[in-house]
This record gives sequence, C-alpha cells and structure tokens, in this order.
Amino acid sequence: MATVLAIETSCDETAAAIVNNRKVISSIVTSQIPIHQQYGGVVPEVASRQHLETLNEAIARSLEEANIGWGEIEAIAATCAPGLVGALLVGVTAAKTLALVRQKPFLGVHHLEGHIYGTYLAEPDLQPPFLCLLVSGGHTSLIYVKDCGIYETLGETRDDAVGEAFDKVARLLHLGYPGGPIVDKLASEGNPKAFPLPEGNVSLPGGGYHPYDSSFSGLKTAVLRLVQKLEGETSELPVKDIAASFQESVARSLTKRAIACALDCGLDTIAVGGGVAANTGLRKHLQAAALPHNLRVIFPPMKYCTDNAATIGCAAAEHFDRGHISALTLGTQSRLSLTEVMQLYS
Ligand code: KG4
Ligand code: ZN
Repeated sequence: MATVLAIETSCDETAAAIVNNRKVISSIVTSQIPIHQQYGGVVPEVASRQHLETLNEAIARSLEEANIGWGEIEAIAATCAPGLVGALLVGVTAAKTLALVRQKPFLGVHHLEGHIYGTYLAEPDLQPPFLCLLVSGGHTSLIYVKDCGIYETLGETRDDAVGEAFDKVARLLHLGYPGGPIVDKLASEGNPKAFPLPEGNVSLPGGGYHPYDSSFSGLKTAVLRLVQKLEGETSELPVKDIAASFQESVARSLTKRAIACALDCGLDTIAVGGGVAANTGLRKHLQAAALPHNLRVIFPPMKYCTDNAATIGCAAAEHFDRGHISALTLGTQSRLSLTEVMQLYS
C-alpha cells in the first residue's frame, strides 16, 4: 500500500497527485488549454515552458491538500513516455531531483498505463485480465490487460486517433480547441441520424473488414465533404446535427470493435481509458451494447479520463509494491509501446 507523489507533464496539463495504492489523496491539474487555444492546438515549446512555470506550485499544492509531509511519501513518479519529449523532460527532471534530495525511489511511468489505471480509481477491486479500450488524443487501441506491466495490443487505429478526429472535426466546424468536449456538448442537442457517415472500417485484402482495427481519416474527410456541400446549400450550418452524426458513427465503430474483441478473447470486462472515455455518446452506446452479452463496462470518473497525475500515481504505486524501480538515468521517449513498459524498471 504505497503512498506515491506522481507528476504528469506529457502534453498540455501540468499535474501532480498523491496516491495511496488505488486511492487518490490529492490531485492537482493545471490546464494549459487557454494558452494553446489561440494557436488551435498544442505548441510543444510553449507547453514545456508552461510546465516549468506551474509544476512547482502543482507539487506544493498536492502535498498541502493531502496534508502529508515528505516522510510519508515512499516513492516519486513521473510520466516518462510517450508524449512531447520537452514536456516530459520537465516532469521527469523534477521527479528525479526530488527523489535525490529526499532520498526516495524514482519510477518512470508509461502514460497509457496511467490511462489503464484510471479504471482502478473507479473499481479498486478490479483485477486483470480485462480488455481496455484506450481512446485519447494520440491513441485508439484495444489492449489485453494481463497483469501490472503486461499488455498486448489487439487493435489500433490505422491513421488518426479518435481524440484527434474529434479535434479535427471541431476545427472544420470552427468550434475551437480541444474539440472533444465541445462536439460532445453540441451532439447532445443534435440528431445523430441526420447524416449517415462511414464507420471507419479497415478493409481486409480478401474482403470484409478488420474486426479490431479502426480508421478515422475517411470519416473526417466525409465530414469535410458534407460541410463543403452544406455550405453551398445553406447559410447556417446544422452544426449540432453534424456533431451528433459524427459522434454516433465514432461511438458505433468503437463499441462494435470493443465488444467483438472482448467476446473473442473470453474477457468479461471492458475498461475504457483516455480523454475520449469522457464522451457521453460512447458511454451510452457501449453500456447499452454490452448489456445483452453480460459484459461489464467500467469508465473512470470523468476527472480521471483526461490527463492527470492520479492515474500515473496509481500505476506507479502498484509497480513500486512489486519492487519495480527506475534508474535515475532513465530518459524520456516520444514513443514507447505498452509492451515495453517493463523496460522502464530494473
Ligand atoms: O487522454 P487525453 O487527455 O490526452 C492524451 O493522452 O491524448 O485526451 C485528450 C483528447 C483530446 O483529443 C480531446 O478532444 C478528447 O480527448 N476529449 C474528448 C472528450 N473530452 C476530451 N473527446 C470526446 N468527447 C469528450 N467529452
Ligand atoms: Zn492522455
């Protein structure tokens, strides 16, 4: 039952948290979204500088809110991959420095393993094996969770990640950044059947489609063509109906793949992780479709879907309990497969 201080700076949230095993003691998230909004997306150099500005305060607040001293912290963790290397470096350097000064073990954490561990914050008693549908700004994967640090990727996107598709469609509709939450909100007021859109199937050479892989670039292009057509026909774009139709197509596509994969693997639980796990359309679709198959679906609490340090701390606490510790020479990596998680520990 380790108590861990965790840091997350892989993209545009500066976060620090204190976690005891699968229980969050404090969680501070300082979003950079308002800063990046003026550029329409995350600017890596701006993100790194902003992490430098706000990280110390986030760490101080996480300790203050947890009302615990350094003596009670057993290990210090930070996301080390995948992500923006400069941004990751800020969190990892801070964690290593604190580990040296306070004489605590240091653990590097895989960002996606953090998203998987978000599920345990909703269901602390859950144990592997289960299937994780990981849907974020950079990933759309179906992952067979075998044990702490042991993962097999069964399905992936062939092009855009689903969060990226939400962000691009939002840009097409002139809705701002990040697109997911805005599209989600507008979709709730629109008609999901207004415009039939493709589901992003990946064709197989002999016919049919890949049961677990997805593709979102065709869907994005279909939305672009629809917007261009409607702009020529009407003065006011039916933004809510377009958002609802797009979200419906995404939710249907992800649901179909996740259910097929869980059933084929004989797994009875689907855990959803990553920013798009906050999507109301996906939550509704997946839960309804899982019911007749007796599949259990678990979503993390909303605040632990998007990037935060509590999920990172939860993953680190379990690794630490198993004696996994990272070397202080561990670097940051922009890409790292989930199958390589155990390389982070000695
Ligand atoms: O997990 P996350 O915070 O960062 C990454 O690891 O990428 O995910 C961010 C992504 C963004 O693309 C954002 O638009 C999307 O998650 N997102 C949503 C919702 N909330 C965040 N997408 C759909 N519906 C939402 N409610
Ligand atoms: Zn993330």
